[in-house]
Amino acid sequence: MSNIIKCPNCLTEHLTGLSLKPGDKRLFKGNCKNCHLPLKFKLNSSNQYGLLEEDFISFQINGVTYQVSNEYPLTMSLNDYLRDVLNLKGSIKKDLFRTKLMCKEGGCGSCLVNAEIIDYSSKMSKNISINSCLFPLYSCDGLKFTTIEGIGSKKTGFNEIQKRIADNNGTQCGWCTPGMVMNMYNLLAENPRPEKQEIEDSMDGNICRCTGYRSILTAMKSFAKDEKPIDIEDLNRIKCLNKSKSCLRSDKNVHLIRDQAEWFVPKDMKTLNDLLSQFSSTSYRLVSGNTSVGIYKSDGPFQVYIDLKSIEELYMIEKYDSLVKIGSQVTLTSLINAFEEFSSSSGFEYLHTLAHHLKKIANRGVRNTASWSGNLCMKNFHKEFPSDVFICLETANAQLTVTTPSGISKILSPLEFMSLPLQSKLLYSFSVSPLTQDTFLRTYKIIPRSQNAHAYVNAGFRFSIDPKTMVVKSLPCILYGGISPEFGHASNTEKFLVGKSLLNENVLNSALEILNSEITPNNDPVLASPEYRRSLALALFYKFVLEICQKEINPKYFSAFQSLIDTRPLSQGSHTFPDQDPAFLPVTKPIPKLNAYLQASGEAKYTYDKYSLKNQLEGAFIQSKIANCQIGSIDDSLAKNHPGVVSILYAKDIPGKNSFMPDPFPPELLFAEDKIDYAGQAIGLVLAESAAIAQEAAKLVKITYKDQKVPILNLFDGIKSGSFFPKPVDDFKYGDPDSAMQKCAHIIEGDVYLDTQAHFYMENQNATCEETEDGYDIDCATQWIDLVQNGVQYVLGLPTCNQYKIGCDENSKLIAIKIDWYCDAGNSPSDNSMPVGSSFIDNVYNCPNWFISSNLVKTNLPANTAVRSPGFFPAIAIMETMIEHVSTYFKKDPIEIRQINLYKK
Ligand SMILES: Cc1cc2nc3c(=O)[nH]c(=O)nc-3n(C[C@H](O)[C@H](O)[C@H](O)COP(=O)(O)OP(=O)(O)OC[C@H]3O[C@@H](n4cnc5c(N)ncnc54)[C@H](O)[C@@H]3O)c2cc1C
Ligand code: FES
Ligand code: FES
Repeated sequence: MSNIIKCPNCLTEHLTGLSLKPGDKRLFKGNCKNCHLPLKFKLNSSNQYGLLEEDFISFQINGVTYQVSNEYPLTMSLNDYLRDVLNLKGSIKKDLFRTKLMCKEGGCGSCLVNAEIIDYSSKMSKNISINSCLFPLYSCDGLKFTTIEGIGSKKTGFNEIQKRIADNNGTQCGWCTPGMVMNMYNLLAENPRPEKQEIEDSMDGNICRCTGYRSILTAMKSFAKDEKPIDIEDLNRIKCLNKSKSCLRSDKNVHLIRDQAEWFVPKDMKTLNDLLSQFSSTSYRLVSGNTSVGIYKSDGPFQVYIDLKSIEELYMIEKYDSLVKIGSQVTLTSLINAFEEFSSSSGFEYLHTLAHHLKKIANRGVRNTASWSGNLCMKNFHKEFPSDVFICLETANAQLTVTTPSGISKILSPLEFMSLPLQSKLLYSFSVSPLTQDTFLRTYKIIPRSQNAHAYVNAGFRFSIDPKTMVVKSLPCILYGGISPEFGHASNTEKFLVGKSLLNENVLNSALEILNSEITPNNDPVLASPEYRRSLALALFYKFVLEICQKEINPKYFSAFQSLIDTRPLSQGSHTFPDQDPAFLPVTKPIPKLNAYLQASGEAKYTYDKYSLKNQLEGAFIQSKIANCQIGSIDDSLAKNHPGVVSILYAKDIPGKNSFMPDPFPPELLFAEDKIDYAGQAIGLVLAESAAIAQEAAKLVKITYKDQKVPILNLFDGIKSGSFFPKPVDDFKYGDPDSAMQKCAHIIEGDVYLDTQAHFYMENQNATCEETEDGYDIDCATQWIDLVQNGVQYVLGLPTCNQYKIGCDENSKLIAIKIDWYCDAGNSPSDNSMPVGSSFIDNVYNCPNWFISSNLVKTNLPANTAVRSPGFFPAIAIMETMIEHVSTYFKKDPIEIRQINLYKK
C-alpha cells in the first residue's frame, strides 16, 4: 500500500505517516508543506492513499457560470469576489468593479445586487436584493445574480432606471447610485407596477451622503403605477437578462477546507445533525443569512462553518386553526409576508402588529436574507442587543423548538432560550397561537430615524383585560429591550397590575412608580443616556395604557398614542428652474450632468475602483481596542506568518516624522508610539496581498495594554477634568460686557449643547499609492492637495528640494526672499544650470532683499544638462510659485500681487 501522496499543485510528495488497514474509510486532512494547499485524502479502492478533489460550488453572474473551490478564504463575501477576484484574475469579464462597497455592514446599500433564488417556503423562484458585502461567497451555490454590469452601460445602452436617476439629477458623487439602481431593478423585476409608498419604503437601506433623497425618490417614484411605469420593452429587457437555465442547487453536500477551516453545506437534517454531533467541541458557526457579521464583526474566526441555506425542511411556513409554525430558515421578509397573510384569520389579527414592527428591522436587503432564528441566536450570544424579533416573539408568547443532534427537541419561550447554551443545538422553529378577543398586544420601537436603525428602546405589551372594567385579568407581559443586557420583563409591575383596573388613576401612578424603580438602564457611551431610555420606557407603557383605554378617556389624549411615523404622508418635493434669460443660453440651461449616466451604470471610476496594479498590496490598520493607556506589548508573530502578509509597519518604521500634519500644524500621529489616546487609534499597518488577508491578519496581532486611566469620553467629562488644548484664538471682548450685564433689569441664563454625530463616510476614505520613476502617485479624496503632499513628505522624511521663505509688507509687497535651492547634477557638476538660474530667479519682480543658497546634489545618475534656456525655466517656475503662494496668503487675485511687485522700470 503506497504511503505517499503528491500535491497536485506543486507536485511535492508527502509521506502520510499513517498505516491504515485496507478498507479503512476515514478521511484525512492537511496542508501541503510546500505550497500550503489544503489536501484531503483517504484510502481508495486499490488501497492506496488517494487524494480527493475539493468540492466546488457554482453560481451565475449576469448569465455567466462561475465555479469556485477552496481557493479563497471561507469568510470571503460575494462583494470581495466581484470586486477583487473577478478583476484581479480578469477571468471572464473584466470591469466588475461597478458594484460598490462602503460600510461592509449591511447599512448603506451601495453593494446591492439582485439574486434569483428558489424560495423553499413557496417553492417558487423569486428575485431578491441582497447586500453583497454580507453575503458569503460560499453561500452562492446554485444562485443567479444580476449586478449593475448586467443591466446597462454606455456600450450596451443604459437601462431605464439608470436613465431616470440621471435625468432627475439623482447623482452627485455617484457612489451610492448603482446600489439605488439595483434596489429599484429588483423591485421592478418582482413587481413592475409598484405603488409610490412601496417604492419609498423599499429604499430604506440605501444611504446617500451627498445628493439628498428628493431627487432620487422623484426618479424612482416615476416608475409608480400612477406615474410613468416602465414600458413593456424595458421590462422584458430586465426580465430576460438571466436567459440561462435556472441554476438550481445540486443535492450534493458540499465540504471545502481552507486554512485549517472548513465549510459545509448540508442538504438535509440528517447530515446537519451528524455535523453538529461531530463538531460538538469545536468552535463552529451556523451560517443562516450571515447578516449578524454586519453588527458583531469581531465574532470568530471559526474552525467550521455550516451553511443552513439548503435544508428545505427549515423553510416551513404552516398555518393551522390554532397554530402558526415557522421554520428557522424563514427570512424576515418571508415572515412579514406570512404574518400579514395570516393576520386576516380570527385570533391572529395581532400578527399584523408584529409584521408592522418587523418591517422596522434593518432594511430591505438585510431582511431578504436575515432569518428570525439568526436574530434570536445573535441575542443569545450578545445579550445587550435590542432584538426586535425577541420583543415580538416573547410578547406573542411564542414557543421555540430547539433540537439536538440525537433528535431530542425542547420547547422554550424566547426568554428561556436566551439562557440556553447553543453548542450543538439548532433553533428549529417557532409557533404562535391565536389570542383571545380581550387580549391587547402592542409593540413599539423608538429609533434615531424612522428606518434602518437599532432601537434606543423597544417594548412589547400583552394584556388580557375585562373590557367593561378594564381590570387586568391575568399576568400581563411588559417587556423591554435596550435597557440593559439583563433586563427584559418588568416583573414587579406585571405582578402589581394583576386584578387591578387600568382606569384607576392611583393604580396607574403606582404602576409607573414601580416601573420607574425597576427599570435601571445601564450606562454605555454607545447608547442613548440612561435617563432618556428610562423616560422612553415609562412613556411607552403610558402610551399603551392610553391606547387600550381610549374608549374611556378624553379624546384630547389621543395624540399621545397615535404614531407619527405611521401617519407620515408620502414624501414629496419638486425642483423648478427659473426662466432662462435667452441672452445667456445655453449657459444657464438646466441639463443633466453628463457623467451622471456613467455614475448610474457604475462605470464612473473612483479611487476605490482603481484597477489592481501588478503586485499591488492592500493595507489594514492594527487598531487599539481601548483608550487612554500605554501599549504594553505587541505580538505580531501570527500575523507575520499569515499566508499573504508581506509586511507590518509601526511608528518605528517611519523614516520621517510620525505625523501626517506637517509643520506648522499641531501633529497628528500616523501610528501610536507608546501612548494610546483613543480606541481605534492606529498602532500599525498590515500590508498583504488582498484587503481580506490584511484585515484578517490585523486581527491576529496581540496587543497588551498597561496604565489604563479612565478615558474622557465626552465634552462634560473633559470640562470637568480640565482637559484642554491651548486656546485656538484669543478671547473676544467688545465693549464692557461685565458692567453692562450688572445694569440689566433681567438676566436670563441657560446652556445649549450640540451633540456630535458619527460621520457616515462613503467612498472617500480610500487612497492608492503607486511608486513611480520620480516619486509616488497618490490618489485620494482631498480638497487640500499641497497638505497631502507635505504630509507624505513629512512622514517619509523626504527633503524638500526648494524651500523658500518670503517676507512681505502689509500691502503684500515683497520685502525679502530666502531660498535653499537644490539641483540634481548627476555624477558631474560640469554643465549645471544653477549659476544662470539663480541670476534670473527674480523673473520680473522686484524684491530688495535676497538670499539664495545654491546646492548641487551628486547622484548616481549620468550628468544633467539643460535642453534649452539653461536655468531660466526652473527659476521662473520657482518665482511664480512663490507669487501664487503670496496671493493665496493675502487672499488677493494673483494678477494684483504680480502688478504690485512688478519692476516698475
Ligand atoms: C444593517 C443591519 C441593521 C439591523 N437592524 C436590526 C434591528 O433594527 N433590529 C433587530 O432586531 N435586528 C437588526 N439587525 C439584525 C438582523 O436582524 C440579524 O442580523 C439577523 O436577523 C440575523 O439573521 P441571520 O440569518 O443573518 O443570522 P446569521 O448571521 O447567519 O447567524 C447569527 C447567529 O445565529 C446562529 N444561528 C443562525 N441560525 C441558527 C439556528 N437555526 N440555530 C442555532 N443557531 C443559529 C449563527 O451560528 C450565528 O451565531 C440588523 C442587521 C443589520 C446587518
Ligand atoms: S457596503 Fe454593503 S450595505 Fe454598505
Ligand atoms: S451621490 Fe449618493 S453618496 Fe454621493
